[in-house]
Amino acid sequence: MSPITLDYAKCLTDRVGKHGIAVRDLDAAVPELASLTESLNRTRGTGWQRWRDLPFDPARREHVGKVRALVEKLGPDVENLVVLGIGGSALGNIALQAALKPATYNLLPRDLRDGPRLFVLDNVDPHAIGQTLTFIGNDDPEFRRTVVNVISKSGETAETAAQFILLRSMLKRMLGDGFADHVVAITDPARGTMRAICDAEGYATLPVPEGVGGRFSVLSPVGLFSAAMCGIDIDALLDGAAEMDKRCSSNDVLKNPAAILAWLLMQFTKRGKPNHVLMPYCNALYMLADWYRQLWAESLGKRVDLSGKEVFAGATPIKALGTTDQHSQVQLYREGPNDKVIGFLEVESFEEDITIPHGLDAENLNYLQGQTLSTLLNAEKRATEYALVESERPNFTIRFPRLDAHAVGQFIQLWEITTACAGLILNIDAYDQPAVETGKKATFGLMGRPGYEQWKMKVDAALDSSVQTV
Ligand code: PA5
Repeated sequence: MSPITLDYAKCLTDRVGKHGIAVRDLDAAVPELASLTESLNRTRGTGWQRWRDLPFDPARREHVGKVRALVEKLGPDVENLVVLGIGGSALGNIALQAALKPATYNLLPRDLRDGPRLFVLDNVDPHAIGQTLTFIGNDDPEFRRTVVNVISKSGETAETAAQFILLRSMLKRMLGDGFADHVVAITDPARGTMRAICDAEGYATLPVPEGVGGRFSVLSPVGLFSAAMCGIDIDALLDGAAEMDKRCSSNDVLKNPAAILAWLLMQFTKRGKPNHVLMPYCNALYMLADWYRQLWAESLGKRVDLSGKEVFAGATPIKALGTTDQHSQVQLYREGPNDKVIGFLEVESFEEDITIPHGLDAENLNYLQGQTLSTLLNAEKRATEYALVESERPNFTIRFPRLDAHAVGQFIQLWEITTACAGLILNIDAYDQPAVETGKKATFGLMGRPGYEQWKMKVDAALDSSVQTV
C-alpha cells in the first residue's frame, strides 16, 4: 500500500519569501520535536491518549470482534441505519461514509449497496429530522428493517437525547415490544445515563472506550460500527492508521509527518497566520475536512495553558472545496490578509474517471476534449497552488495515491497525532472542552432541567437586548 505524503515545500521561505519558514528554523527545532515525539510515545495509551492504541491489539481485536459479531447478528436485511449523535459522536461516521461510499449510496437499489441506507441525524433541526423520519417511517414494511444506532459517551447531550427519545418512541409505536432489538447503543461501558437506559431496556451495546474522547473516537466502535454495517473495510482503515502511527512515532523527526505538520502550523499561528484552511480537491474528502475542523478547533482552542495562565490558544480551521471554492474563496486567500495557511488534499489516481468526449467544434474549448476530469481537477489544484505561491501564501499538500480505507485510516491517525503534538507545543490540554460543557449546561437551564435553574437566570441576564433591538 502506498503511503499518503505531506509535501510542505511551499511553506518554506525559498517559495513564499518572508511569509514562509526558513529551513534553518525547522532544522533548529529538530531537538525540540524529537523530545515532543518522545513524550507522546512515552504517554501514549495512558489517560486521554488511549485513542492512540485503537489501531493495535488488544483494543483493535476486541472492538473489531464485537463490531463484526453485531453486524453479523443484525444480518443483511437491515434497510435503514439511523445514527444519532453529535460532534465527535457523528462527524467521523459522516466523514467515513462520504469518503468511502458513493455520494449516491442511499439512492442505490439494495443489491448495488453493501449495506443499509445510512442517515446520520447530527442536529435537532425539526425540518431535517422530520423529513428523515417521514421518509423512513412512511414505508411500514421497510421500517421493520430499521436499526437505530445511538452514540453518546455521556448519554446526556441534549441533542442526542432528544433524537433518541423521538426514535425510541417511533420504534416502540411501530414495532411494539420487540423494539429494543432495533437499537444499538454506543456509550460508556460502565457509567452514565445512556448506560443505565441500555441496561434497563436490554439494547445491544458497544463501548466508547475508556480514555477516548469524542473527537478522537472515530477508529473505535463509534466510527467502526456504521462503517462496517455499510461494507467499509474497517481492517484496512485500522491498518492504515497503524502504519501512519509508526511513521509518526519516529524520532527521526524530519521523516515524521505529524511532528513537521504540528510544528509548521503552530509556527505559522505564532507568526500571524492562525487561519488553517483544509481544501480537498475531491468531493469525497470534504467531510473529512469537516471532521478535521472539530478536531483542530475543540482540541486547541483553549483559554488557559497547563499552568493555568490565560493564553487564548488555538487556530481557526476552515474547510474549502477545490475546484468549487476557487470561484468563491481563493480571491480572498490570494489577495486578502496573509493570515492563512492552506492545506490541499490531492488524490493522484481516481478509481473512477471520465474522459471529456470529442465532438464539439469550438476552437477555445478543443484543449479539453479527450482529457480526463481528474487531469483537469488536479491541474486546477496545481494552478491554485502556483497562484498562492506567487503571492507568498504558504500552503502544503497531503497527497493520497488513491482514495481507499487504508489511506483514510492514515489521514485520521496523522491528524490526531498532529493535534496531540500541537497541544504539547501550545502547552494546553488538548482533550478537554470546558467551553462546550458551558453551552451544554446553559441549554439544560433553558430547557428546564432541574438543578440548572441558575444557568437560565445567568443566560437571560447576559443576553438581554430589549433596548438594542430595532
Ligand atoms: O469531541 C467531543 O468530546 C464532543 O464533540 C462530544 O463528542 C459531543 O459533545 C457529544 O458528546 P457525547 O458523546 O457525550 O454525547
